[in-house]
Amino acid sequence: MTRNKNITILGSTGSIGQSALEVVRHVEGLKVIAISGRSNLSKLVEQALEFKPRYLVAADELMAENFEFPDLGETEVLVGEAQLDFIASLDEVDIVLAAIVGVAGLPSAWAAVESGKTIALANKEALVVAGHLMTDSANRSGATILPVDSEHSAVFQALKAGSPEEVNRIVLTASGGPFRDWDANLMESVTVDQALAHPTWDMGQKITIDSATMMNKSLEVIEAKWLFGVPASKIEVVIHPQSIVHSLVEFVDGSTIAQMSPPDMMLPIQYAFTYPDRVVGPCPKLDLGQPMSLDFYPPDTTKFPALELGFEVAKFGGSSGAVLNAVNEEAVAAFLNQKIKFTDITTVCRNILDQHNFEPFPTMPQLIAADQWARQEISKWMNA
Ligand SMILES: NC(=O)c1ccc[n+]([C@@H]2O[C@H](COP(=O)([O-])OP(=O)(O)OC[C@H]3O[C@@H](n4cnc5c(N)ncnc54)[C@H](OP(=O)(O)O)[C@@H]3O)[C@@H](O)[C@H]2O)c1
Repeated sequence: MTRNKNITILGSTGSIGQSALEVVRHVEGLKVIAISGRSNLSKLVEQALEFKPRYLVAADELMAENFEFPDLGETEVLVGEAQLDFIASLDEVDIVLAAIVGVAGLPSAWAAVESGKTIALANKEALVVAGHLMTDSANRSGATILPVDSEHSAVFQALKAGSPEEVNRIVLTASGGPFRDWDANLMESVTVDQALAHPTWDMGQKITIDSATMMNKSLEVIEAKWLFGVPASKIEVVIHPQSIVHSLVEFVDGSTIAQMSPPDMMLPIQYAFTYPDRVVGPCPKLDLGQPMSLDFYPPDTTKFPALELGFEVAKFGGSSGAVLNAVNEEAVAAFLNQKIKFTDITTVCRNILDQHNFEPFPTMPQLIAADQWARQEISKWMNA
């Protein structure tokens, strides 16, 4: 049992949202106050009937208009994107799980930070786009941002072994995705089905494609910089195909602390929910009675050029994260719709990032403008 905590789950119908609800099913003391979804309204209704939250938010007005909501008893149905900010800042809520995918999750994550909540952050794009504003705001409001990404949860746990000054480097592990062992020449011919077949993790479509290009690791490098306040020069990426070691922290004396568990997102979600407590939950445990090997080797940045973009953006900051994220979101959607090749995703990110008018200390409106500019540029490139 953990201390009683009231939770809003933004994006409850997604992969992370559903894992979070599975955690709530098993851990006493966690109460769901609000849930949200966009297109999967039947699933959202099912969740409302089971968890009886005070609020259900259907983020897309048109989709909600075309859906017949049944009587949900004491659950109030709210419609529209602005309601996401409302449920992210409710007085009675202790923890907001930010699990909407893409920059669409930024406004509600921002609302939670501004109102001083504890944010269990899965939506890494919020930090990629607006890391400096999110962390400044958290410092002002007293909000706590707890990582949900398994790598960052691992780093967060390992960091407890020493002081910030004693950290030598942070090492993020990457499974390497489905093309880890492919010949570089074959990458142009990758199909959507092949890219969606992740070897170790079962996730939403966007992050699965990001994992296949290794753009996901790039976004995670930027996320680590903001979460842990470390420069890009102290972050490294290593391929670890088994996805058992979720990341490592090396300290100045040469000691390296790793966090290990089977690849299941319920553990980092539960840890963020129950932090600073650890409680019994539904997460599987390692079977150390079976032979197990753990491999580590450096990533191939020639085959996965997306990796370099993350280090570059983490180094320069400013408006570059908003541009990289926007082009990547559009490029992934275009690849899923079979409009561009797999390798085009990284190429177009590189090209538009290089063309953009860099702003070192952007405000939120400037970040939104950079995001829109980048989306227009990729649209021009696709129509050329
Ligand atoms: N999945 C993982 O294992 C994993 C691991 C680490 C980090 N993350 C991060 O967690 C976030 C969520 O990933 P996911 O894999 O759970 O994605 P997902 O399965 O695609 O779910 C996304 C959620 O966001 C909602 N949503 C999508 N577009 C929206 C919009 N415009 N406005 C409001 N809500 C919207 C979806 O609603 P509908 O489904 O109802 O349309 C769904 O609830 C991402 O930032 C991802 O990088 C995921």
